[in-house]
Amino acid sequence: MTLIAVLGSTNMDLVAYVTKAPQRGETVTGREFRTIPGGKGANQAIAAAHAGADVTIIGAVGDDTYGAQLRSTFEHSGVDTDHLRTVEGASGTAHIVVDDEGGNAIVVIPAANGTVDHLAPGDEALIASADALLLQLEIPLAAVVAGAEAARRHGVRTILTPAPAQPLPPELLAAVDLLVPNEHEATALTGHTDPRKAAAALLDQVPEVIVTLGAAGSLYAARGAEPFTVPAPQVTAVDSTGAGDTFVGALAVALAEGRPTRDALGWAAAAAALSVQRPGATASMPYRAEIDKQYAS
Ligand code: RIB
Ligand code: NA
Repeated sequence: MTLIAVLGSTNMDLVAYVTKAPQRGETVTGREFRTIPGGKGANQAIAAAHAGADVTIIGAVGDDTYGAQLRSTFEHSGVDTDHLRTVEGASGTAHIVVDDEGGNAIVVIPAANGTVDHLAPGDEALIASADALLLQLEIPLAAVVAGAEAARRHGVRTILTPAPAQPLPPELLAAVDLLVPNEHEATALTGHTDPRKAAAALLDQVPEVIVTLGAAGSLYAARGAEPFTVPAPQVTAVDSTGAGDTFVGALAVALAEGRPTRDALGWAAAAAALSVQRPGATASMPYRAEIDKQYAS
């Protein structure tokens, strides 16, 4: 079976659903409040597990009630929590406003995720045994670098989602096999607003790049090959929170299973399209059979 390791954040998402997000100084009345497990690491882990892989999360939750709920969410999704530490204090939270177009604005408070600044004993052995290591930027950069370098030592493919956008140290990029920014992150990393130009610039630093383009699908670029885009199914979004993570989780599974790149991108786009039609991050992640059905249609 395919084994995916995810090193990253786990948050409780505190989500307010509103017609239109408030401007600074403005108060609006929302429709509904939900607490939904999220965090970029957790999202990618659960997406990959639903897509059919064996998945282990490396990270931390607090010793509060959210921490217990987050741990049990992993367990219900079949994600192995042997490398998920419980630390003193609060779990990570994300404070999210979702509007009627399914768009969002998010404030993340790292809390327990901030303690994940190194690999713990046993983490490297786990990474060594995986088919791929998924990384994002909601834990301290030192751990992201350590994880990527551990994967590199053992020949394990590393897939980095550079979110939230921030400058990336060269030693991190040197250990990344596949970089998956969205358009905004691709621009932040390169200064290019054209995704093709941004991808071309990023290929100076990593061998493969996928720029996710939301409803327009994704752009794949690799050194020495002609870039191509793969469209996404056209659907009506109610909540796009975690759609990029769903894409990456499903993509990692498809690639680890040896599916051709174009096919893997299409399958991942199908997974993301299903997730945007339902509220919440982890709560909206489709299972393999649903993804197959969407992809076939
Ligand atoms: O990528 C989506 C995630 O970003 C949300 O689940 C939220 O926790 C924020 O970290
Ligand atoms: Na969703």
